[in-house]
Amino acid sequence: MEVESVLVTGANRGIGLEFVRQLVELPKPPRFVFATYRDWNTVEALKKIRDAFKETQVILIKMDIRQADQIESARKIIEDMVGDKGLNLLINNAAALRWVGFPEITEEDLLFHFSTNTVGQVMVLKAMLPLLQRAANYKSGGMNASRAAALNISAKGGSIEQLTEQTPKEFLQIMGYRTSKAALNMAMRVVALTVKGTGILVVNMCPGWVKTDMGTERAYLELTESISSMLKTLPQLNESHHGTFLDRNGKTIPF
Ligand SMILES: NC(=O)c1ccc[n+]([C@@H]2O[C@H](COP(=O)([O-])OP(=O)(O)OC[C@H]3O[C@@H](n4cnc5c(N)ncnc54)[C@H](OP(=O)(O)O)[C@@H]3O)[C@@H](O)[C@H]2O)c1
Repeated sequence: MEVESVLVTGANRGIGLEFVRQLVELPKPPRFVFATYRDWNTVEALKKIRDAFKETQVILIKMDIRQADQIESARKIIEDMVGDKGLNLLINNAAALRWVGFPEITEEDLLFHFSTNTVGQVMVLKAMLPLLQRAANYKSGGMNASRAAALNISAKGGSIEQLTEQTPKEFLQIMGYRTSKAALNMAMRVVALTVKGTGILVVNMCPGWVKTDMGTERAYLELTESISSMLKTLPQLNESHHGTFLDRNGKTIPF
């Protein structure tokens, strides 16, 4: 994959941070990696990557995906740096999870998940769309991640079909999260069909169950393994994957 510019949201820890780490280590690393965080006190690991890898400019940007003004400021920073070439790849990663099931769940819990995991991701993509379009127009050819793409980090937990009576009861305790990810999948399916023909590839991907603050130590995948799989799959994506929901290896997950 030869991608000139990438935006990774929620890049100060977990999956977002590991994306940044592996992107700068690619044989042909991006020229720009825009890495977003919310709290400057949490960016030590990002700063280390920024200072260690000189082939890529790692630009740290404050952006809460629930704050329209912060999304707009981020867009301006990115636009100024990428110019006519636009933004090639958005890794729409930031999300949140609380363990609350039914009937304990509150309206606030549900809205919290929806505003972060669905609305936030859609608003980020909406803001970056003109920059992705610029990138799509700059390069010819088919749809691919090196040209212009939004990789939305979703979760198998959002698959309605895969939630069955066999699902362990404790995993029903992430009701708000599941609901928001199912909504994200639908929202991005709508986006994909809407932008069809513009050259921008839109894909939803589950990283697997990964050892992060969200995934906990019980998860079966190491961060390095999950992200390297996704970065192996990413360059293989094309028109046929537009608007789909995939696992980290590119296999379809039922909605
Ligand atoms: N880990 C898993 O097993 C797993 C499985 C399936 C899907 N996923 C998905 O993978 C993605 C990354 O998860 P993770 O495991 O890396 O989670 P994590 O360790 O909890 O990290 C979440 C990241 O999202 C950021 N974030 C949360 N709310 C935000 C907001 N309102 N605005 C901006 N950034 C925000 C956090 O920033 P702060 O540090 O400021 O809170 C942090 O950088 C998520 O989309 C998640 O749903 C994870």
